[in-house]
Amino acid sequence: MMFLRVLFLLALVFASVPSRADVDITSKFSNQGSVANTRHNMTQRQSSGGGPSAAIMDPYRNDYQEVCVYCHTPHAANTTVALPLWNRTIKVTTYTTYEQLGTSTLTQSVSQPGPNSLACLSCHDGQTAVDSIVNMPGSGGYSAAQMTAQNNSFLNTWTNTRGPDASVHLGMSAPDNTGCLACHSPDAGFVGAGATDFRAFRIGTDLTNDHPVGVTFPTNNGPGTDFNTPGGTKGSTKFYDRNGNNHMDKDEIRLYDSGAGPKVECASCHDPHGVSPGGGAFNPTFLRVSNTGSAVCMTCHSK
Ligand code: HEC
Ligand code: HEC
Ligand code: HEC
Ligand code: HEC
Ligand code: HEC
Repeated sequence: MMFLRVLFLLALVFASVPSRADVDITSKFSNQGSVANTRHNMTQRQSSGGGPSAAIMDPYRNDYQEVCVYCHTPHAANTTVALPLWNRTIKVTTYTTYEQLGTSTLTQSVSQPGPNSLACLSCHDGQTAVDSIVNMPGSGGYSAAQMTAQNNSFLNTWTNTRGPDASVHLGMSAPDNTGCLACHSPDAGFVGAGATDFRAFRIGTDLTNDHPVGVTFPTNNGPGTDFNTPGGTKGSTKFYDRNGNNHMDKDEIRLYDSGAGPKVECASCHDPHGVSPGGGAFNPTFLRVSNTGSAVCMTCHSK
């Protein structure tokens, strides 16, 4: 009887393990309802119960006590980049693009990442601290120089009313496992215990092992070609209008145009606020559509 029960439990476990592409690395955030309940809440405090112990991270990044402010500000935003009310430092960088890998199959040209990738890379390339913003909450606390460069003495002017002041301002760090990864990786952990392994989230500045971004969408698309036609248009941005409502909804894959035609960027596939397929948990890894059955890929690629 006991043996059978164990077998049954094992069967349940195996039956419920989805493929890697469909799961998030376990989180203390619920990953539903709001960006506040995801890993993109840089206060690292969950709004209601059960979240991670933010105090552990307090010495390493400012707790601005607001979720949006790590990325957006209502006033005095970063004007060096065409992004919605952007509050983060965008360090001028030359990325190694996918094209430099030199595959013989690529037909389109690849430029440096556009704004809708630079937003993500402002944290995920590991060069800039997650709390490096232009305009801090409240009055004062503004630095125009922050638009393109991280200045720690400016960041040190913030006083954390909920815990210790940050003495250092960490980014994800590439290529070494310093920064947040000093704890959030198994091999370099100086504290380690309980810290999730975040190495997979560190994209770095070498984009040759990532799906091309800044890559032009082929003008030759539609039936008989390798690419499906994005039917929806908003300005010069194109999108796959799944529900046919002529509106660029957050659960629709899109192609951004910053002047050189529609291109694939990080936010083509991901929405950094989280997207729920129907009221409950967000799609894993901030994807606009669940990638079950490779649905993300087959939106664009006709394969
Ligand atoms: C001194 C070690 C240490 C450093 C440095 C550190 N963390 Fe953490 N972090 C932890 C530990 C331990 C936990 C788990 C604690 C908990 O959940 O109560 C954690 C939890 C988290 C979580 C929640 C994970 C989840 O989804 O459950 C996030 C997000 C996070 N840290 C981000 C960061 C970022 C961003 C940085 C760099 C600014 C950083 N951490 C630096 C130790 C650290
Ligand atoms: C981790 C960074 C991050 C956080 C935190 C964040 N955003 Fe955003 N937000 C972005 C990025 C990146 C874009 C641009 C998306 C794109 O390229 O399409 C964006 C776009 C937007 C837009 C315009 C396009 C859209 O998706 O509607 C609004 C409005 C917005 N954010 C509001 C908010 C609010 C309100 C909060 C806080 C509750 C918030 N965001 C938190 C990164 C963030
Ligand atoms: C303010 C900094 C910041 C910005 C901007 C940002 N991220 Fe993140 N992102 C993080 C942190 C911190 C984590 C948690 C893991 C870590 O610390 O490495 C994370 C986690 C993720 C994850 C893993 C989620 C999971 O649970 O598996 C994905 C996917 C992701 N980000 C994509 C994006 C994309 C795409 C953009 C732009 C549209 C973006 N991020 C913008 C800081 C940021
Ligand atoms: C063509 C679609 C597409 C584009 C473009 C794209 N991603 Fe992803 N990304 C995905 C899919 C699908 C996954 C989930 C695959 C998996 O779990 O390995 C993912 C996973 C991730 C993860 C979680 C780590 C991992 O490997 O699972 C991070 C972080 C991330 N993406 C960030 C980015 C950033 C930053 C960019 C832009 C430089 C970007 N993505 C561009 C489709 C895309
Ligand atoms: C938003 C549209 C879009 C989505 C979604 C998308 N791709 Fe692509 N992909 C492209 C474009 C455009 C190219 C460039 C094609 C070319 O140059 O011929 C490309 C190129 C590629 C290449 C070829 C690179 C080479 O060296 O020839 C592969 C492989 C690929 N994508 C796989 C995927 C996978 C796997 C997914 C799902 C995780 C995916 N794509 C999702 C648009 C997309």
